[in-house]
Amino acid sequence: MIPTQTLSRFIHSKRRLYPDSTGELSDLLVSISLGVKYISQMVATAGFKGLHGYTGKTNSHGEETRQLDEEADEVLVELLGSSQHFGLLVSEERDSVIETQAAQGEGKYVLAFDPLDGSSNIGSSIPTGTIFCIFRKKELSRPASHDDFRQPGSEIVAAGYSVYGAKTSFVYSTGSGVHGFTLDPSLGEFVLTDENIRIPTRGLIYSVNEGNTSYWSDGVKDFVGQLKSPDAASGAPYSGRYVGSLVADFDRTLRKGGIFLYPTDTKRPKGRLRLLYECMPLAFIAEQAGGLALNGPDNILALVPEDIHERSAFIVGSEHEVRWYKRVVHGLK
Ligand code: AHG
Ligand code: MN
Ligand code: MN
Repeated sequence: MIPTQTLSRFIHSKRRLYPDSTGELSDLLVSISLGVKYISQMVATAGFKGLHGYTGKTNSHGEETRQLDEEADEVLVELLGSSQHFGLLVSEERDSVIETQAAQGEGKYVLAFDPLDGSSNIGSSIPTGTIFCIFRKKELSRPASHDDFRQPGSEIVAAGYSVYGAKTSFVYSTGSGVHGFTLDPSLGEFVLTDENIRIPTRGLIYSVNEGNTSYWSDGVKDFVGQLKSPDAASGAPYSGRYVGSLVADFDRTLRKGGIFLYPTDTKRPKGRLRLLYECMPLAFIAEQAGGLALNGPDNILALVPEDIHERSAFIVGSEHEVRWYKRVVHGLK
């Protein structure tokens, strides 16, 4: 049986859910998936093309950028910057907003992305990925501006991520469930493999960088301690899994349940992960799959990014474990 549900066929088939849809958003998602295919190829061949190194530059976060960070960024800026539908872009690798070819930002949408997440791992075949989210401009009649990125995650019109691992997967949502695709290299097409992904209501895996333990608040130490202490009622001890690539840790949490947490700590009082193009898109996906995503006390999707590169704490996963975190660490329901 040939795979009939390719990404573009599936996306266009869903358009009937949106009677006033013009097909623009569907085109954008297909364009993003083309960029993901290019990056997948780049990641797979970087080793023998000598692209695992550093550029010698640092990005706006003071992090050393790798050649692949820059290459992946250029693919997406070139591909999506030439779409008439995007008025502005934000990339983790660029200090400020990126103009597109749409005349004076006339495009209806704005896009924020992390072109290559987990890039510190590329030399060791650990999965990496791309993360993105799309907003509609606040005022369609006005050219896009930085202010169009100052919207709560609840206003996201589409979000998704890819994982460049043993297979290249593409997971997205436009607000009607979460759908997963796998790249069939022989076809060069993403084929539907997981329609309507639902995160398990609870899991048995926790994912955190325990190297930060001495910087955590007492509440976080208490919570992680509870996950590790044998307790028949809670099912603890949970298994610990931490890849160090957000997309890989998130994808496992989405499919198997449990919790991923990167809380603030005394070393990172504002958090480690970026709100706009790491936390918000994955929070949108998690909630669409029946999970929950917090910055600690608040829902990630209720937050409005002031600065395009601002950081946040990120606690995401099955509702059971995320609410358990909120109760123990913040004393909130
Ligand atoms: P990026 O490669 O886009 O900078 O993201 C790296 C992030 C994320 O992928 C991962 O969860 C986190 O860095 C790991 O941070 P630690 O090394 O501090 O655990
Ligand atoms: Mn990242
Ligand atoms: Mn990155």
